Amino acid sequence: MKRVFQLPQEELPKRWYNVLADLDQSLPPPLDPRTQEPVDPKALLALFSRECIAQEVSTDRFIDIPEGVLEVYRLWRPTPLFRAVNLERRLQTPARIYYKYEGTSPTGSHKPNTAVAQAYYHKVEGTKRLTTETGAGQWGSALSFACHVFGLKCLVYMVRVSYEQKPYRRIMMEVYGAEVVPSPSPNTAAGRRVLAENPNSTGSLGIAISEAIETSLNEPGTKYSLGSVLNHVLLHQTIVGEEALLQMEMAGEFPHVVVGCVGGGSNFGGLILPFFREAKKRQRLVEFLAVEPIACPSITKGEIRYDYGDTAELTPLIRMHTLGHRFVPPPIHAGGLRYHGMAPIITHLVEEGVVKAVALDQVDVFEGAVVFAQCEGIIPALESAHAVRAAIDLARDCAKTGEEKVILIGLSGHGHFDMAAYRDFLEGRLPRLTTSPVSQA
Ligand SMILES: Cc1ncc(COP(=O)(O)O)c(C=O)c1O
Repeated sequence: MKRVFQLPQEELPKRWYNVLADLDQSLPPPLDPRTQEPVDPKALLALFSRECIAQEVSTDRFIDIPEGVLEVYRLWRPTPLFRAVNLERRLQTPARIYYKYEGTSPTGSHKPNTAVAQAYYHKVEGTKRLTTETGAGQWGSALSFACHVFGLKCLVYMVRVSYEQKPYRRIMMEVYGAEVVPSPSPNTAAGRRVLAENPNSTGSLGIAISEAIETSLNEPGTKYSLGSVLNHVLLHQTIVGEEALLQMEMAGEFPHVVVGCVGGGSNFGGLILPFFREAKKRQRLVEFLAVEPIACPSITKGEIRYDYGDTAELTPLIRMHTLGHRFVPPPIHAGGLRYHGMAPIITHLVEEGVVKAVALDQVDVFEGAVVFAQCEGIIPALESAHAVRAAIDLARDCAKTGEEKVILIGLSGHGHFDMAAYRDFLEGRLPRLTTSPVSQA
């Protein structure tokens, strides 16, 4: 049975897909918190590249990927799509399970797909340094790599709990020449405020974003880069779904269910959006399932309203699912899923009934990850393992009902830097969350 579906390099898609062209209504715009009026895109120039701001609001259905970006993508793209034959056998399921694997990128996840694009546009527009935040370290290492490729400096605020749990991710960023600072830090007003209230703060993505934005607003030549949530980030990630569409065609399949983990929604969006377009065109019913941690259940327990993207209230107000911008989730190992908000595109698709969501406990997630690793060989990133566990549950349901569902998993990265977490799980040291952390929101 064929297990690997690999596209030849000549078939690397040359365009990103912009779902904004195909939504029934336009997304509510980001608001300026002082005036409550839509943000003037020019005001965002202090942070982002001109081109990414244009992409944020573009309604062109397809956007050409610049040759300078394609050239770097060719280092690892197209990425493989696998059929999880061993997993199917282990689960004794009639479901056919496929996974699109982004762990073959230089830094081990989907994050370079947008890091390379963002760094490229900044280089073209004359930026000298980029600053950003990172949770698990996947985004920080992707941006550090991309900055090095284009000769930009890079400063990364790394959420303290991950800085301590994952020293090798920090070293990886330093290998690419980046400076890495644990957040909250005494370097910024935002960090100092949090430390004054709680000197032992484990940090959060919201706090680290505030620190990175503050630095870029205060230091000339420095701009900011965000690894998720925004429309242009999901746009860049659609390279994943465009390839997966072609590869599922090679396998002679179209999925009934597409499953991905959600932090801010970028790998999930990147994978599902091209399938959303094609399902509409081909009048196919596809279930899109977003998987989040119980510790940070933005979609399943959050509200839909305007909120800040960061803790210190430096970003515009964005209409999205949110647990509140001051929410600090418990320090679960899947650091990349500890974000209080959600991509407005995903929020919109949840409201439209296109996307469904489920929240899982990390102990169940680890159990799924170990089963997957034993069958398929790949040890998933803990973020990606959320999608794996949800897919295993779906496949087990199929075993009971006899349904031959085609399930496509977004395997957004490998977990080679997550061994301390796997050790804690194997030694039975991971507690289940017994109370919902959401009452703090
Ligand atoms: C491997 C991996 N998957 C998923 C995520 C979650 O981010 P997003 O929802 O933007 O894909 C992260 C974030 O760091 C990650 O590192």
